[in-house]
This record gives sequence, C-alpha cells and structure tokens, in this order.
Amino acid sequence: MMRKILLLALILSAASPVLALETKYVTLNDGHKMPVFGLGTWTLDNAQAEESVYIAIKEGYRLIDTARYYRNESGVGRGVRRAVSEGLIKREDIFITSKILHGYNPDEAVNDSVKALGLDYVDLMLIHQPGYNDEECYKALERAVKSGKVKSIGISNYYTPGEFERINRIASITPAIVQNENHIYYQNTELQEYLKRYGTFIESWYPLGGRGNTREILNNEAVKKIAASHGKTTAQIIIRWHIQAGYIVIPGSKNPEHIRENINVFDFALTDDEMKIIADLNQARRFENW
Ligand SMILES: NC(=O)c1ccc[n+]([C@@H]2O[C@H](COP(=O)([O-])OP(=O)(O)OC[C@H]3O[C@@H](n4cnc5c(N)ncnc54)[C@H](OP(=O)(O)O)[C@@H]3O)[C@@H](O)[C@H]2O)c1
Repeated sequence: MMRKILLLALILSAASPVLALETKYVTLNDGHKMPVFGLGTWTLDNAQAEESVYIAIKEGYRLIDTARYYRNESGVGRGVRRAVSEGLIKREDIFITSKILHGYNPDEAVNDSVKALGLDYVDLMLIHQPGYNDEECYKALERAVKSGKVKSIGISNYYTPGEFERINRIASITPAIVQNENHIYYQNTELQEYLKRYGTFIESWYPLGGRGNTREILNNEAVKKIAASHGKTTAQIIIRWHIQAGYIVIPGSKNPEHIRENINVFDFALTDDEMKIIADLNQARRFENW
C-alpha cells in the first residue's frame, strides 16, 4: 500500500505540467533526477564537442545530449572528464544522455557507448529511432539498467500514443523520456498530455529549429515582441517557453556566446498570456521527417 502511494506521489510530481520557476530538475518516473535544460551536440565533431561541453559545464549546464550516431561521444566524455579533473563538478553532478540506433547488436552498442564516453555509466540511454529490432533494443536497454551501465531509459522519435505503446507494452521499465522534434511550430501537446499518466517527459530536439531553420523561428514577430518586453533574446524566450511548458530542452551550440546566452533563462518568467501566444504559433509543421 505504502509503495503504491509513494509511486503515485512520484508520478504526480513528475507529471506536473508547469515547473516551478526555480526548478532546474524534474524527477523521472524511475526516481532519478534530470535537469530540464542542457546542451545538444548534434553535428559537433569530437574537438568541438569536448570544448563546448567543457564551456557549458563551466557556465552551469548539467545535462549533455549525444548519440552513437553523432560520433562525438569520446569528445563529450573528454569534456566532462576535463571538468571533473579540474574540480568543477563531480561525475554524479552531470547527466549524460546517449542513444543507440536500431539495426545494430544493441548490447554491443550500449557497451561501445559507455566505453566511448569513458564515464563508467550513462545517465539516460534512448533508442534513437523506431526500426525493425527496436523492441529488442529496448530489452537490451533494460538489461543495461540491471547491470548498472545505464540509469534511465527511453525512446526518441515516437510521435503518437500508438507508437509509444508499441514499446511500452513490451517494457518492464516504462520509458522515462520521449525525445522528439518539438518546437513552436510543431508542439507535441497531445503526446505530452497522454504521457502524463506514466510520468514520462518529452524532451525537445530542434527547439530553435535546427541547423538551417533557426532564422525562421528566431525571427518570429510574436516571439520578438515578447523578447523585447523582457529584455531577452528570442532564443532565450523560446528556451524558457519549452521549460515552462513542461518540456526538457537541449539547444545545440558550438558557439561559446550562444552557450552562455541559452542558459540565461532562469531569472525571468513568461506570463500565462505570453505562454498562450507562443502555444498559438503551433502549425503542426515538422522540419524533418524521421
Ligand atoms: N533524437 C533525435 O533524433 C535528434 C535529432 C536532432 C537533434 N537532436 C538533439 O537535439 C539537440 C538540439 O537540436 P539541434 O542542435 O539540431 O538544433 P537547435 O538546438 O534547434 O539549433 C541549433 C542551431 O541553433 C544555433 N544556435 C544555438 N543557440 C543560438 C542562439 N542563442 N542564437 C542563435 N543561434 C543559436 C546553433 O548554432 P551555433 O552552433 O553557432 O550556436 C545551431 O545552428 C541536438 O544538438 C541533439 O543533441 C536529437
């Protein structure tokens, strides 16, 4: 009985749609804590990843997103280890996410990822995309949790409740995270609502539109107006919107100025009206098709 009450309290706190302003962490449905904001590293090579991760940690970032597919896990790991060796953080202070692709031997992929990062364990491992052996991949992730190589697990690029349930019905550990394309023009509101029953969070990729599309999102007239009224940049308004809307957000950057700018979103709040203005920008329009 007590266990059931505790589990319910955990799920309710994790599913809270609007985060308290000072909150920089959420509690996942498996009890682990995850920062609501971090650094994305897609397209960064190993040297850029090392430098960007190191700078980000210095600036206060505590969540880094990488993947086997990005081929920069060793750079990410070096950046983290440099920060740890200089005493900026301890290993347990930083939350590392990586992803394995379907189609490979999943147990080997997990081992390779942990080895490339060189950080003993990965905080969150996702299946990068749906694919022919993704259910077997998920089982491998569950084995990795059991063996201590991975703390939390989830999926990426599953956009409907049906797609989520195909994995969830074979899972003994409910996915903690669904990492999806999610931005002001493509808001995952329906899936977010559905996932609340499981305490599963959506993590937004392409929050700024991704490489090649940022100009469009960052120059949106409505967002510009809100930015001017807060004395913030449009990137900061958009990042803040993701956090207040209950998403976890990982803007990507290899530019130290942008890395500094993007974390500077915890000293102001968008009003309900401003949140609604941005919610109304949804066009159900994706930039990618995977
Ligand atoms: N699971 C998946 O399938 C998937 C797919 C795509 C991405 N992701 C993850 O999600 C992360 C975020 O997505 P993303 O990096 O592709 O796209 P994004 O975060 O939407 O945009 C990154 C682009 O925005 C620029 N930028 C960053 N901060 C800025 C600022 N303050 N002002 C102006 N421009 C700024 C970056 O350039 P600079 O480098 O010059 O700052 C870069 O060109 C990725 O890095 C990756 O970790 C996951």
